[in-house]
Amino acid sequence: MNAQPEEKKKTILSAAQPSGILTIGNYLGAIRNWALLQERYDCYFCVADLHAITVRQVPADLRRRTYETLAIYIACGLDPEKNHLFVQSQVPEHAQLAWILDCYTQFGELSRMTQFKDKSQKHADNINAGLFTYPTLMAADILLYQADLVPVGQDQMQHIELTRDIATRFNNIYGPTFTVPEGFIPKTGARVMSLADPTKKMSKSDENPRAWVSILDPRDVVIKKFRSAVTDSGCEVRRGEDKPGINNLIAIYCAFTGKTPEDAEKEFEGKGYGDFKAAVGEAAADALDPIRTEYARLTADKGYLEALMKQGKEAAQRRAGRTLFKVMRKVGFAQTDGK
Ligand code: TRP
Repeated sequence: MNAQPEEKKKTILSAAQPSGILTIGNYLGAIRNWALLQERYDCYFCVADLHAITVRQVPADLRRRTYETLAIYIACGLDPEKNHLFVQSQVPEHAQLAWILDCYTQFGELSRMTQFKDKSQKHADNINAGLFTYPTLMAADILLYQADLVPVGQDQMQHIELTRDIATRFNNIYGPTFTVPEGFIPKTGARVMSLADPTKKMSKSDENPRAWVSILDPRDVVIKKFRSAVTDSGCEVRRGEDKPGINNLIAIYCAFTGKTPEDAEKEFEGKGYGDFKAAVGEAAADALDPIRTEYARLTADKGYLEALMKQGKEAAQRRAGRTLFKVMRKVGFAQTDGK
């Protein structure tokens, strides 16, 4: 009997910018879920440093944070032997394809991107062309790897839609070239809200440091931040429409412990907010302790991280180079070396 050909794994690509602190929102909402995909998919995870310079960066900080972001990926469970982990600027194909895609993207389309509108308000003194074309670079990140699926947060879905439009347009002109990717928001991903104002998303750019918890915050800080989390009127640990604070804390507790909200409510029946907030803090700190330890070990070994970067770059270039070559041929560039 013939052996069944092994089914080809689907490809996943995602990225995060090395722009500093990653919060438990990034962890529970994104990175931790990436780790759940690594067995079943061919995964590419990128540190998007090209995207980071759309806002002004201190060069030494950007470089250091690129190493740190790679270390965080691994500390959060991405196995460098099972995933392709790489740095965007080390794979020049990203910038090359982005330029080509720029020429297949309309000014009007880019003008409608809400992230562009938000960021140009926030950085009114530096509305540069890169900020405007940011989504075509992101499209290049995705299309170079022929990614089938792109796990992202809700805020990035508009960029994925644009990527699909660009890919479809290109395919219609030149014949099948790009896989048209799908964005997806992993179901397990909790949407983590600010601890200071639970109607807002938890964000590292919040000026109030009590609003967020970093993946790398030491244990006592984690516990202290949860202890001072804003709660709602009333005193029962029970979800409710008018209880954004408790809803958020229950969601975080469940995300860290794997318990259901019903279990959590039962566990804290008859107990007050104080006890519950202490328990959430402990649960978060327990989960983050091993990540922080692993992160410290990895960042102390720059040589190891650099070896991984090289390995990731080579794997990424193998795939990206093939796609770029095909695109350049279709567009009509003269090519002297075959692929
Ligand atoms: N723009 C994404 C963010 O800020 C990061 C990113 C860059 C990305 N390239 C990507 C995400 C490709 C998914 C796929 O969160």
